[in-house]
Amino acid sequence: MSNGTSNPSIPPFVPPGPTDSRSPCPALNVLANHNYIPHNGLDISPLQLIRALQTVYNASLPFSIFITLAGLWTAGYIKWTPWPKLRIRSLHALAAHNVIEHDASLVHENALPIHPSLKSTFSSYDSKSPYPPPSISTHQGKLFAPTSPSPSLLAALLSDCTTPHPTSPHPGLGMSDIKRARQRRDKAISPPSTKLDFIHEAFAWGESAKIMCVLGVGNFDDDDDNEGSGRVVSAERIKAWLGEERLPDDWTRPEPFGILKTNNVKGLIQKAA
Ligand code: HEM
Repeated sequence: MSNGTSNPSIPPFVPPGPTDSRSPCPALNVLANHNYIPHNGLDISPLQLIRALQTVYNASLPFSIFITLAGLWTAGYIKWTPWPKLRIRSLHALAAHNVIEHDASLVHENALPIHPSLKSTFSSYDSKSPYPPPSISTHQGKLFAPTSPSPSLLAALLSDCTTPHPTSPHPGLGMSDIKRARQRRDKAISPPSTKLDFIHEAFAWGESAKIMCVLGVGNFDDDDDNEGSGRVVSAERIKAWLGEERLPDDWTRPEPFGILKTNNVKGLIQKAA
């Protein structure tokens, strides 16, 4: 079976089935769709996740441990059978609103408050279930954000692509493009009283930095001495990774990155003209 990339050592891309659990994180969904972590998205071993983050994304060990701990904090539990093991319950559990997940994501719609008329429909929903309730974004008063990318937000992100890409015929997403996209999503939060708090704002810019680290080519600094266009992600890669949640056709393991680099890139995006 084809893995959807030109690299034969990558496990095949298998889209999620109706009972597979998925998260609002494209990086994790891609890992599940290529079987680096369980394809059903359930009972994820922290060690397996750390290994997958290093193998696929070339994330440093400290960074991989740090974000896996964030996952355990959001969705960790002890699985007792046949012996006690620490696990991330499900990818969907990471969609719990305002834990790591936040409003104004680039390609995911915001979590919607539940309409009072629907409350009784979901009151019997088992909060330990790894699966999302049928068609909603909350159970037992807890909001869950959508886990599928929104076609219209993806199209908006693609229309933010204005930077020449060295190998693609189409313009790609450069540093100033992703800054504009981030600001566009922040501005769209309504009412303004629900603007992102400091920590979720930092997460949101950090996620943009991770996109540039993992999918981009070229130098991060787009100064006058730089002959190229600076760091840029091809539109094809945006569509594959963020839209279809698979490794892009031209996938190669990115340069190593960790907490410091993500933070530096975040600063460079915020400063981009
Ligand atoms: C190299 C590793 C990773 C990369 C490149 C990455 C990248 C991203 C990106 C780009 C988004 C934003 C999607 C959007 O704006 O629509 C995102 C969201 C998210 N990520 Fe990851 N991620 C990584 C690892 C992880 C890990 C290990 C966890 C937790 C265990 C995690 C949890 C989340 C969550 C909960 C969100 C939703 C935040 C939101 O509301 O936008 N991520 N990630």
